[in-house]
Amino acid sequence: MCGIVGYIGKADAPTVLINGLRRLEYRGYDSAGLAVLDDERVVVSKAPGKVAALNERARSEWPAERFSRASLGIAHTRWATHGPPTEVNAHPHLDHSGEVALVHNGIIENYRALRARLEGKGHHFYSETDTEVLAHLIGECDKGNLFQAVCDALHQVEGTFGIAVLSAREPGRIITARRGSPIVIGVGDGETIIASDASAILAHTQRVIYLDDNDIAIVTADSVDIRDLNNIPVTREIAELGLDESAAEKGGYDHFMLKEIHEQPECLANAIRGRLDFNIGSSVLAGMGTSPRELAELGRVVLVGCGTSLHAGLVGEYAFEDLADLHSEVQQAAEFRYRNPILGSRDLVVAISQSGETADTLAAVREAKQKGAFVMSLCNVVGSTIARETGRGVYLHAGPEISVASTKAFTCQVAVLLMMALKLGRGRRFSREEGIRFAQEINSIPMLVERVIRQDAHIAGVAASYVANEHAFFIGRGPMYPVALEGALKLKEISYIHAEGYHAAELKHGPIALLTEGTPVIAIACDIPGKDKTLGNIEECKARGARILGLVTEGDHEAAECMDDFISIPRCHPLVATIPAVVALQLFSYHVARLRGCEIDQPRNLAKSVTVE
Ligand code: G6P
Repeated sequence: MCGIVGYIGKADAPTVLINGLRRLEYRGYDSAGLAVLDDERVVVSKAPGKVAALNERARSEWPAERFSRASLGIAHTRWATHGPPTEVNAHPHLDHSGEVALVHNGIIENYRALRARLEGKGHHFYSETDTEVLAHLIGECDKGNLFQAVCDALHQVEGTFGIAVLSAREPGRIITARRGSPIVIGVGDGETIIASDASAILAHTQRVIYLDDNDIAIVTADSVDIRDLNNIPVTREIAELGLDESAAEKGGYDHFMLKEIHEQPECLANAIRGRLDFNIGSSVLAGMGTSPRELAELGRVVLVGCGTSLHAGLVGEYAFEDLADLHSEVQQAAEFRYRNPILGSRDLVVAISQSGETADTLAAVREAKQKGAFVMSLCNVVGSTIARETGRGVYLHAGPEISVASTKAFTCQVAVLLMMALKLGRGRRFSREEGIRFAQEINSIPMLVERVIRQDAHIAGVAASYVANEHAFFIGRGPMYPVALEGALKLKEISYIHAEGYHAAELKHGPIALLTEGTPVIAIACDIPGKDKTLGNIEECKARGARILGLVTEGDHEAAECMDDFISIPRCHPLVATIPAVVALQLFSYHVARLRGCEIDQPRNLAKSVTVE
């Protein structure tokens, strides 16, 4: 979603800001803009579309000296919420005087009332955005102290914000604040970089400070002074990012998505490494911070998440029931706090989020804590809000995921959920021998995924037969049902083919009416319990002319013969098989989208991290 970059230091600010925005492009956006202080004036350049268009616009509108002169500025990529992605709606927005500029992530919920009040005082608004209202409010509150003005304005707003503000009246500083939308401050050598996401900071420094909700900071080239909104100083530690800049590069692949699919054996090895104990036949997940007694007393596991993370939770649901005999359920994070969930101290709520910033998942975490449940998270981004607010959980160690369509985060989420289920299972029903056997299964995941990735060329060939269709159905049973949902999500996200995932048995309760000659049905028919019934469902589809692409277990000739095309999945435990199966579907979707000429890494309308409800 929207991205923020702010810079103050020795380098030329416009170039630093534009490079920073490029690093945030993966988050999904539809317009961009920047404001710098030049000759004690605020100058703004904006453009609808991509950061490249903004770069061109700024370089044509601004004199070359401005690029070398300006050493302070703020910039933004906007994912439209209030008003279409036009130049006038793009950030930064200015206040009434034109001397204060603001970039903002999040939503000001009471902006209509604030706007009406300011209009009553003679303010004129050019855009349809909530952000312009906040810019005017800050200007209105500014009686000679920008920091105080931002505090006073933020006291009046309802909603969420990550902001960066500069003023021609106070050159040499940027004010930044957050509530519900992340802000990271990179502490460099004689320069400070503000961003909504650490990837925009990597090129400058590894030393960062994460703001907490309701923190506000006065940032100069060599200082960061953090307070709360009542002007009381607060202390936040400097953390090391520990990320390599190359992690944010494509490394020779055509797309980040393909790179991330291919990285999975290594990411999974990182997620698993040091977390399996073959002596006791269990997993070691210190971050869970639970005693064996606490685990034994658990009555239920509730998994919450959105999108791909929700699908990982659905696989986890099978794992907790199957391996740990634990009542387990998945709830959509967006619904969680609105349906008054019944929770208590024997319930474990696991929030699953690659970014650790998804607004609905964060709200679910807060609700679960409020209700006294045991809350932990599975996040990929270290130091993210959900990871910090839960205080316990397991990091995925998948490395930065840049492609909007999630791939490696999903497989690492499932691998970690399997390790959690193993740990809980060992405390309940698994013998040591059973535990050891399942730990070995988990340990083989990177190798299993490698075997699917080796079929990349074959999968690309298969994909070519499915490029021309506008509809597709994915079916599966048991733990392969969520894999079908995830396969359909991947295909529609990046190829814009209308794809639906169904339980194999559900197809005949309605969707089968849509099957005509050649409609693709992608059937996950691995050799797991229920396979024969899935093969029966496939026959029902074939009888109506569907073209079947099957995922079948290696060597299962009987299943392979039922299919028009097939991809082999190595034989392994049914829960473990979800991971190589999903990797095959990721590659399939990737190649279909590539052959259709789609913009794979940044699909239209999608955002990497959804920080609004
Ligand atoms: C967005 C992304 C999805 C992701 C979902 C949840 O919709 O486009 O890829 O699965 O958010 O994100 P999270 O960071 O919470 O896993």
